[in-house]
Amino acid sequence: MFAHAFPRPTLVCLLVAVSAMMAGAQNAPGGRGKQNIAHRGASAYAPEHTLTAYRLAMVQGVDFVEQDLAVTKDGVLICLHDDTLERTSNVASVFPERFSKELMERGRGPARRYVANDFTLDEIRKLDMGRWFSGKFMGEHIVTWDEAIELVRDKPGTGMYPELKSPPLYTARGVDMAKIFVDSVKKHGLDRPESLKTTPVIIQSFDEPTIRRMAADLPTIRRVFLTEDAADVTDARLKELSAFSSGIAPAKRIIAEHPDMVARAHALKLTVTAWTFSTDEKTTQAAVRDEMSHFLYELGIDALFTNNPDLFPRRER
Ligand code: G3P
Ligand code: CA
Repeated sequence: MFAHAFPRPTLVCLLVAVSAMMAGAQNAPGGRGKQNIAHRGASAYAPEHTLTAYRLAMVQGVDFVEQDLAVTKDGVLICLHDDTLERTSNVASVFPERFSKELMERGRGPARRYVANDFTLDEIRKLDMGRWFSGKFMGEHIVTWDEAIELVRDKPGTGMYPELKSPPLYTARGVDMAKIFVDSVKKHGLDRPESLKTTPVIIQSFDEPTIRRMAADLPTIRRVFLTEDAADVTDARLKELSAFSSGIAPAKRIIAEHPDMVARAHALKLTVTAWTFSTDEKTTQAAVRDEMSHFLYELGIDALFTNNPDLFPRRER
């Protein structure tokens, strides 16, 4: 019936257009056009990984709110970017002697570093996670992964973008971070197709074995391999990645240096997501909004992480 309704040239044009649309949908995370991912929440305006930063991102209309994940001493997933607590909390005042002797001996970073995995959730809950950013945010507390799920699920259409940070750090301590995460996702039913329709989830990690494991353990959830290495955008490597990953997320400079990688990744059905766009960072464009436009609409990436989700140059939906 369809074939009879249109003259042959029109039919061919329609089929080409439909297949292009389908390819576009496959290439876009969640199939909904370009994706605005709040990097650690709306972290240009509120302290990263706090409820205020997450709520603001949702008010700003993001597609996804990112959660970097760490594991406490008692095995609870918390939203924290660094492996240690001193940059974003007052841990050095509350628990001055609990710094890592191991890191100090290895001479890594500032003299006193406080590994999150050395503290229980109850201890970490005592910390102020907002004062470092501004006195206005004093009293912000750590957000657990469970609390983040509860918050984001309240707004259907907004997704979660968890990153499993430093899985090898936990393995060395006898902690299976990936198992804790997978068990939690299953407990909350986040991997069920009906849940993914209202609360999309995309998993990310720099750790390739972790992405491979997610493909096996949570096959209904899309996953993205993070990289800062240009060797990951060669044809051979992209092909390898496409066997277990849904997308690749290179640092934006890699995409700028190898703009052809976007089409090559798309040809393998890999999405391309760039990081990180922020008013705090230098850009080659006039402003960060122009920089985001360039990557999204000229270089053709599918999604990006930004500290300024309110400046995302939306053109379609
Ligand atoms: O996860 C994407 C991007 O956030 C990677 O950088 O260090 O901010 O987690 P980072
Ligand atoms: Ca991240």
